[in-house]
Amino acid sequence: VKKWVKKRVTILGSTGSIGKQAIEVIQAHSELFEVVGLVAGHDADALAVQARELNVDRTGLGSAAAEEMAAFEGADVVLNAVVGAAGLRASVAALKAGKRLALANKESLVAGGDACTRAAMEGGGEIVPVDSEHAAIAQALQGVERSHVKRILLTASGGPFRTRTDLSDVTPDEALAHPTWSMGPKITVDSATLMNKGLEVIEAHHLFGFEYDRIDVVVHPQSAVHGIVEMVDGTMLLEAAPTDMRIPIQSALSWPDRLPYEANLDLEALGSLDFEPVNMQKFPLVEIAYEAGRCGGLYPAVMNAANEIAVQAFLDRAIGFDDIAGVVRESIDEIADEVSAEDLAKSDLDAVLHADEGARDVARRMIEKRTRLVGDRS
Ligand SMILES: NC(=O)c1ccc[n+]([C@@H]2O[C@H](COP(=O)([O-])OP(=O)(O)OC[C@H]3O[C@@H](n4cnc5c(N)ncnc54)[C@H](OP(=O)(O)O)[C@@H]3O)[C@@H](O)[C@H]2O)c1
Repeated sequence: VKKWVKKRVTILGSTGSIGKQAIEVIQAHSELFEVVGLVAGHDADALAVQARELNVDRTGLGSAAAEEMAAFEGADVVLNAVVGAAGLRASVAALKAGKRLALANKESLVAGGDACTRAAMEGGGEIVPVDSEHAAIAQALQGVERSHVKRILLTASGGPFRTRTDLSDVTPDEALAHPTWSMGPKITVDSATLMNKGLEVIEAHHLFGFEYDRIDVVVHPQSAVHGIVEMVDGTMLLEAAPTDMRIPIQSALSWPDRLPYEANLDLEALGSLDFEPVNMQKFPLVEIAYEAGRCGGLYPAVMNAANEIAVQAFLDRAIGFDDIAGVVRESIDEIADEVSAEDLAKSDLDAVLHADEGARDVARRMIEKRTRLVGDRS
């Protein structure tokens, strides 16, 4: 009889929305998983409470602690639920150390997709997606012959402003009221601008190796179908599940096994599944992300960093909702003018971290310019 050895899990970003749900999943399957390390950003009190409850003595705060914890030899799985490019070094460290990386931190792959891929090859680590769309695609692709796949489609709820025509006076509170998912503030704003879908397109490119013309986005307001694989003969495999992140978290931890979970998608209550195209004029960040992804090199890292700064400025009420895309676009253009094509084509970790920092400075300048203009006008 094979003795089941518990999987030892470290959770980076344990005090956030995904981190807390990961703890619930692990507690519900305490015979299979145990937490051996916890890292948060700055909330030391919440971290201490979690550490006591889970009986974990290995904890840390900040990106450097996350990077160190990611390589901890006493862990099998690293769940990276840090928000933003602050999680990149930890993803690389986990992959280099040969871990299973259960990845919620999509910004890691957007900014440093090539660096992550190289780290996985060097160290033998593997990425299992936690993002629901990518978890859906990974499941739908299981056992499918690659040459049979025409394209993959990521669904988008459309966010809170799908039917709103004027986005010039959107407030942070309105942007934070997502219709179908309850998530941390940064990804909730990204879902309102649809940048979240742009980030996910780049994430999918790195995870599944499809070129950008074989990755599409479709708006699906019910958020019941999360990902679609279309075959060369027109057949589509749709993966549907309740809007509950504990499902893809559990799936990433147990992959390729599947564990029971009390949840069901009530098809009769749902009634219908609607699909519509993305309005690229209204949500320009989707197109910007495709462009950055296609340019490759440091472009996605620059775009991601500028977006992080712009989202925070919007939440701080320094810029309007519809300024976010402008700040991102102008930051990319400025850096493309300043930096040589040769340097922009780089994709090693140091270059990415340098570009990330530079793009944050440029984005801050763009925001200052805008606030000065508004000040001059009023
Ligand atoms: N929420 C979802 O449903 C969902 C779904 C799919 C993908 N994701 C992705 O998962 C990631 C986390 O999202 P979330 O919604 O859980 O965010 P969140 O609620 O804002 O939580 C973020 C977590 O990261 C920690 N953190 C922030 N900066 C850090 C740093 N420099 N070093 C170490 N830890 C740091 C925070 O710690 P403090 O509490 O101390 O600030 C917190 O634990 C994002 O990349 C997001 O795109 C989320």
